[in-house]
Amino acid sequence: MTHRGAWNSRWSFILATTGSAIGLGNIWKLPYMIGVNGGSAFVLIYILSIILVGLPLLMTEVMLGRRVQKNPMNAMQSLAKESNRSSAWKYVGGMGMLTGVLILCFYSVIGGWVLSYISTAIFEGFSNITAEEASAHFNALLASPLTLLLWHSIFMIVTMSVVSRGVSSGLEKANNFLIPALFAILLILLGYSMSVGDMQSAFDFMFTADFSKITPLTALVAMGHAFFSLSIGMGSVMVYGSYLKREVSISRTSVYIAAADTLLGLLVGLAIYALVFVNHLEPDAGPGLIFQTLPMAFGQMPLGNLFGSLFFILVAFAASTSAISLVEPTIAWIVENTNFNRNKASLGLGLLIWSVGIVVLLSFNIWQDVTIFFGFGIFDTLDKLTSTIMLPLGGFLMAIFAGYLMKKHHSKEELDLDNRGYRLWQYANNIIAPVAICAVFLYLFNTTS
Ligand code: TRP
Repeated sequence: MTHRGAWNSRWSFILATTGSAIGLGNIWKLPYMIGVNGGSAFVLIYILSIILVGLPLLMTEVMLGRRVQKNPMNAMQSLAKESNRSSAWKYVGGMGMLTGVLILCFYSVIGGWVLSYISTAIFEGFSNITAEEASAHFNALLASPLTLLLWHSIFMIVTMSVVSRGVSSGLEKANNFLIPALFAILLILLGYSMSVGDMQSAFDFMFTADFSKITPLTALVAMGHAFFSLSIGMGSVMVYGSYLKREVSISRTSVYIAAADTLLGLLVGLAIYALVFVNHLEPDAGPGLIFQTLPMAFGQMPLGNLFGSLFFILVAFAASTSAISLVEPTIAWIVENTNFNRNKASLGLGLLIWSVGIVVLLSFNIWQDVTIFFGFGIFDTLDKLTSTIMLPLGGFLMAIFAGYLMKKHHSKEELDLDNRGYRLWQYANNIIAPVAICAVFLYLFNTTS
């Protein structure tokens, strides 16, 4: 297959997969979800989910993709065939592709918010902006469908043009400097937050575990976010694994990726909440949280306009490297199964996602009151459906397949662990992860019915 790309090195794979993992999930979503879901209880379940469920399933997903070197749907089909299992397993890959497309429909709208903040940071600056002004600015953005449409469109065009060039060539160079730069600017922000913010309260809020606040919904949402943040459960990581050469150690790279992703998210959380508490803002402000707090920080710190612009630029890059991985499974499927080439596939799929994105952006203004699913609005429905149902379900099915249906010597050969390491993976993948996912689903089901 000549049209399949491959990573040039182990490092490119690590960076690309970390680039997929690190995105709006860490910088925009995790901070506000911590606030909406009661702080430390959420953080605790989130961290446990990363270690006990996320990390083993990350390894599983890379392993499945690398074994057969195909897009998720064909990969699941070939894997099933190889182990004499039903070809219906391909629908796990199919569901994953759909999940990624659905996520991008709202991800791109939020990516658009970030782009609009780049423009504000560069052309207007945030000098001495007050909490009220920051809020008003954000609300004005949400209230303007045309502005949202402009930035959502730009985000989609940029994302799909990188995708059309092929992930392994388009992405490698960008990621090399992007992730270190993002960490660097975050440390500057954190330093500022530590000097002026209320770090003690932020720390207590995020890490002083209060078990009484754990509800079934918190558990599901926190676990769902572990999937979202690591990009697992839908095939992003599987398709990146499929471009990975054989010599690379899957376990070590997975630990590295999960650690970088989690660390970055928690640091952003601390930086934001130190500012939230010192300014007496509400922790549960919801999706607008970072857009209402960060401009104030950048408005006050020395060289704030420069750092503010840089910060939003880096976040936009991080968002686009994640967005790319959301569509790559579907693009790879189209290219490997139809006559469409990458360009046509990117154009067609891009247009589809862009159109649905318009519906999502209207749900922040003129269709604000439209509810479609258990009283949830359009954005909430897409978000909840994908993060809390489709991703954990996808992860569960992959774990069952890899643990019980695939031939043992195949998984062993791919993972290339010593006996003890392999047993540890088996234990996590075959028992802990599936049981945890089922338990959380049942727990919720019981309490809501
Ligand atoms: N993990 C990315 C973020 O945190 C989003 C993302 C990219 C994703 N690929 C994914 C989420 C696959 C779920 C599944 O922003």
